[in-house]
Amino acid sequence: MEHTLSFLAFALVFILFAFSPPVIIAEPAQYSVQSYGAKPDGTTDSTKAFLAAWDQVCGSTAPASLYVPSGKFSLGKVTFQGPCKNSAIVVTIDGTLVAPSDYSSIGDEKNWLMFEHVDGVTVSGGILDGQGTGLWSCKTSGKGCPEGATSIEFSNSNNIEINGLASQDSQKFHIVINSCQNVKVQNVKVSAAGDSPNTDGIHVESSTGVTILNSKIGTGDDCVSVGPGTTNLWVENVACGPGHGISIGSLGKELDEAGVQNVTVKTSTFTGTENGVRIKSWGRPSNGFARNILFQHAVMTNVQNPILIDQNYCPGDKNCPNQESGVKISDVTYQDIHGSSATEVAVKLDCSTKYPCTGIELEDVKLTYNNRPAEASCTNAAGTVSGFAEASSCL
Ligand SMILES: *[C@@H]1O[C@H](CO)[C@@H](O)[C@H](O)[C@H]1NC(C)=O
Repeated sequence: MEHTLSFLAFALVFILFAFSPPVIIAEPAQYSVQSYGAKPDGTTDSTKAFLAAWDQVCGSTAPASLYVPSGKFSLGKVTFQGPCKNSAIVVTIDGTLVAPSDYSSIGDEKNWLMFEHVDGVTVSGGILDGQGTGLWSCKTSGKGCPEGATSIEFSNSNNIEINGLASQDSQKFHIVINSCQNVKVQNVKVSAAGDSPNTDGIHVESSTGVTILNSKIGTGDDCVSVGPGTTNLWVENVACGPGHGISIGSLGKELDEAGVQNVTVKTSTFTGTENGVRIKSWGRPSNGFARNILFQHAVMTNVQNPILIDQNYCPGDKNCPNQESGVKISDVTYQDIHGSSATEVAVKLDCSTKYPCTGIELEDVKLTYNNRPAEASCTNAAGTVSGFAEASSCL
């Protein structure tokens, strides 16, 4: 009886296996841009070919991949528009995508490469060359220049990965994550001249659950900038320099503005940068805030402002003279921050008179200027100091 039962069970399992569809881990269907007419010669405009390949990938009901072979592909503005029919899209780039050499052709667009309303997209590898040098010199010489385009942006998208991408010489920001959820950016390399204007490395805004790991960013503005409405951001192992550091802000430009909370920046290095870790807000009314922020294990080498809170940002003293920032900054911890400052005051906490900073913790902050302990200056800041902090006199 027992034998018969186990035989029946065995037979049943066998039948189920034999007649159920085979489980095959299939390679996703691959659409190479070259099959749609893209030319890796660096000059032929391949915009249409990329869009045609994207239509196939996005319209596929099965996982699909867009493939860019090696070589240089010249591209104008490309919007990779979703929603798509599948949420397992891989964009594999072996080659280089080159922006038009005439900066004015995309200079008034907000973006060069834009992914919008997509879900489950991975961009893997590739070099983006924004060819921004012409626009930078135009901006530096102060003529009426276009604003410039972000090289690559993800907007209103979820479950995104950017892995191993290199971005060089963007006209404006290199990589933007705007209104997204669950984004992982890793092994990215950003490079642009240290004096190139507005070339932020990675800008995150209105997004939740963004992780930036193991990346090297050298540029003319913030290595990472964090805009209003960012929550649950994790930045780890970023090497920044040249650049303006890792910055939360500018916040509080608008009266009605979403806050920033739960941000961790850890194990990062800052080399020859203008700032290390910074929180910056406009000196004008706002209901914005920044809270629950942790800056941990940072090494500063010759950084002008290693630790900075600046609540009096008002470029050109326009639209904000003599106003106080409404942005409330609270629960910010600086832990194990060491290295060298390029100026005497290494810790500068310049908070709003109306809404002083609260819950500032300085733990094991050890910064030197000319091989001597550097100074700290605090205005309207309250909190605690422990460990080696030189700021004890000021909090
Ligand atoms: C803070 O963000 C991290 C990811 O960056 C997340 O794992 C954690 O759950 C968040 N904490 C809260 C209280 O939301």
